[in-house]
Amino acid sequence: MKDIKTRNDIQTLLESFYHKALTDELISFFFTEVAPLHMETHMPLIVDFWETVVFGVAKYKGNVLQVHQHIHQLSAFKTEHFARWVVLFQQTVNELYAGSNAEMVKQRAESIATVMRIKLLHSGIELKNN
Ligand code: HEM
Repeated sequence: MKDIKTRNDIQTLLESFYHKALTDELISFFFTEVAPLHMETHMPLIVDFWETVVFGVAKYKGNVLQVHQHIHQLSAFKTEHFARWVVLFQQTVNELYAGSNAEMVKQRAESIATVMRIKLLHSGIELKNN
């Protein structure tokens, strides 16, 4: 299996990941009902995000925590949602890629999910106006 080397590899990874996430019994409702995903506009953004994470290029200019804070206010995230998200993401990487970038992206996904979970669930951030 090859490693993640290009933007196109990231796009392939994310298409496969969303295929799982959109049909997952625990978390799909976030993508289909809470904050319905517009794949055409969402995909380039999220590919930018992961390109920034994996290749260190300054492409993603958004605020990923704020986006999820908004979702959290609409329908509260729970620890198990983050746990499932990470499992699906890591499974997808394992099915498609192997190598140092593949390892790194799995670690980064897990650590970003952990930070997001702690900030959203355990800091009272959801009580502040935004
Ligand atoms: C419980 C777990 C998660 C769920 C259910 C979830 C769901 C969603 C949803 C519904 C959107 C909104 C799409 C839109 O409105 O266009 C979104 C955006 C996004 N998510 Fe997540 N997410 C989760 C965790 C994560 C994690 C851990 C990461 C990163 C490691 C991540 C990265 C992103 C990015 C980059 C965007 C686009 C942000 C932007 O529009 O600027 N998500 N997510």
